[in-house]
Amino acid sequence: MPDAATAPADRPDDAVPADTVPADTVPAVRVRRLTKTYRGSKNFPPSRALKGIDLDIPKGSVFGLLGPNGAGKSTLINILAGLVNKTAGTAAIWGIDIDRDPRRSRAAIGVVPQELNIDAFFTPRELLEFQAGLYGVPARERITGELLAAVQLTDKAENYSRTLSGGMRRRLMVAKAMVHKPPVLVLDEPTAGVDVELRQQLWGQIRALNRSGTTILLTTHYLDEAQELCDRIAFIDRGEVIACDTTEALLRRVDRKEVTFSLGEQLDELPAGLAHYDADFVPPRRLVIRYRPSRTRFRDIVNDVREAGLTIVDVSTRDSDLEDLFLQLTAAAADDTAADRGPAQPD
Ligand SMILES: Nc1ncnc2c1ncn2[C@@H]1O[C@H](COP(=O)(O)OP(=O)(O)OP(=O)(O)O)[C@@H](O)[C@H]1O
Ligand SMILES: [Mg+2]
Repeated sequence: MPDAATAPADRPDDAVPADTVPADTVPAVRVRRLTKTYRGSKNFPPSRALKGIDLDIPKGSVFGLLGPNGAGKSTLINILAGLVNKTAGTAAIWGIDIDRDPRRSRAAIGVVPQELNIDAFFTPRELLEFQAGLYGVPARERITGELLAAVQLTDKAENYSRTLSGGMRRRLMVAKAMVHKPPVLVLDEPTAGVDVELRQQLWGQIRALNRSGTTILLTTHYLDEAQELCDRIAFIDRGEVIACDTTEALLRRVDRKEVTFSLGEQLDELPAGLAHYDADFVPPRRLVIRYRPSRTRFRDIVNDVREAGLTIVDVSTRDSDLEDLFLQLTAAAADDTAADRGPAQPD
């Protein structure tokens, strides 16, 4: 059982309460040239999951780790949690190097893993008490009741965990990761496969934890979730960080907008005066134009539409979102890979 193997054990003084904040210049998590190569076997080649990653996660942030399947997100998280051994590089949590002081670095982090592993024959209360015991939290300092309330499981506290729904189990895992009050909480795909309402609840809990001082690191495949929750985001692709910035700055990078005009007249085809735009005509009266705000002014588009003899009845615009950026970045990364390979060789 990974928890037993990795719990920082029996000494209460191993705990790192959130209020022992290292100097301001020290990030909550710092990773340098972090490399992981999973050993191959007879049938499988070695897998280079992380290729020398540098990352700083500022204290107090909600930091999103995004990337396609197999990008290396869980590998990174599991190295921080002490569940996977790195091949090379360094990592420090709350200023504590994971090699030099593994006990204390593990005490500084709580992890909700991607795969939920709950012992079905414990009740939620027993599970949290047991976990607190593993971390050496003395009985009088335990916050079991508080945690159960925070994840809205008070009324299920004495039920067998196997009777909980999937969403309730996920909430229980969040509580379990918090028993030792770590300053950094890591959530690997916290809302994968949960319904819309529960997703909102989990977002609320993540925000509340962050407001109370916990630094959050999460992975997600839902770009809207990252956009909604995270103040900083790193995109990982094939073991490398391909972009890392504030969510705002990343969104500015996309440089694509879309404007939709509702027109006063019915059109059969796009007027010649608008042929130079990336435009779609949606019969009978709608015109969609995509443009780059850095190159084209909105005002000029409006003028061109009017000069084409069209009457604008209504206008709506759509800003770019993280999905646009994601597509842009992964397309660029694929181009690079193709370029690395060089021109295709004739047979
Ligand atoms: N235990 C392992 N042994 C061998 N290879 C592994 C192991 N765990 C992961 N890998 C490989 O390492 C790479 C990164 O996997 P990882 O689980 O970190 O990706 P991920 O970004 O979390 O993906 P997902 O979005 O699907 O969860 C993949 O190529 C994967 O096949
Ligand atoms: Mg993963």
